[in-house]
Amino acid sequence: MQLHIKKKLYMNKKGFIFDLDGVIVDTAKYHFLAWKKLANSIGVDFSEAQNEQLKGVSRIKSLEMILEWGNKKINEEEFTALMAKKNDDYLSHIAKMDAQEILPDVPKVLDYLTQEKQAISLGSASKNARMILEKVHLINQFDAIVDGNDVIKGKPNPEVFLKAAKELNTAAKDCIVFEDSVAGVQAANSANMISIGIGDKEILHEADYVFRGFTKISTQFIEELIRK
Ligand code: BG6
Ligand code: MG
Repeated sequence: MQLHIKKKLYMNKKGFIFDLDGVIVDTAKYHFLAWKKLANSIGVDFSEAQNEQLKGVSRIKSLEMILEWGNKKINEEEFTALMAKKNDDYLSHIAKMDAQEILPDVPKVLDYLTQEKQAISLGSASKNARMILEKVHLINQFDAIVDGNDVIKGKPNPEVFLKAAKELNTAAKDCIVFEDSVAGVQAANSANMISIGIGDKEILHEADYVFRGFTKISTQFIEELIRK
């Protein structure tokens, strides 16, 4: 959904699209805890490596994958109940959350992009995205928000990022995506956008660039992306 598109009729305007969980806020760890608890409660093991495959993936698809790994068959009613259970548990972690959980240097990068009059969107699979951005007081930094409520096809499908580009009125080739998940990097690549992995180089090897975190991204690097 489009927020307030500032009148940005500037040269070299790019679209900067940020994933939420694990990029802007440190919520990836809460998704992990909640999925692990849920998987274990139905007798399914859940490893860090499996968690990596769930990053960026929608709630429905994540549960389908866990059930497949555990070779479990359940009916629709049970499926709905497990989805709610996972989200309730996840929200109990989020309830205690505040601006301290914003990942280092994220506000600095957002402020710099705003100062440079670049267009900024969220591109997240989460249906809890708006609530989280409000909680950490970052919602006003975004010109548009596209989240799990706005898309039919989840990452690695590029729908979420293409929608964000459209909302920002920016061509896909002029968009830059920050992502911590393999599925998200693949989505950005198939949208023909520049993909910037935030995390482990080996895991995110399909990204155009990978940084451990925003503290490792220099202003000069962002400047180059803008002028490209
Ligand atoms: C992604 C997370 O951002 O959102 C996934 O990386 C999560 O782990 C997905 O499953 C959906 O989030 P939510 O908040 O709608 O359950
Ligand atoms: Mg993420």
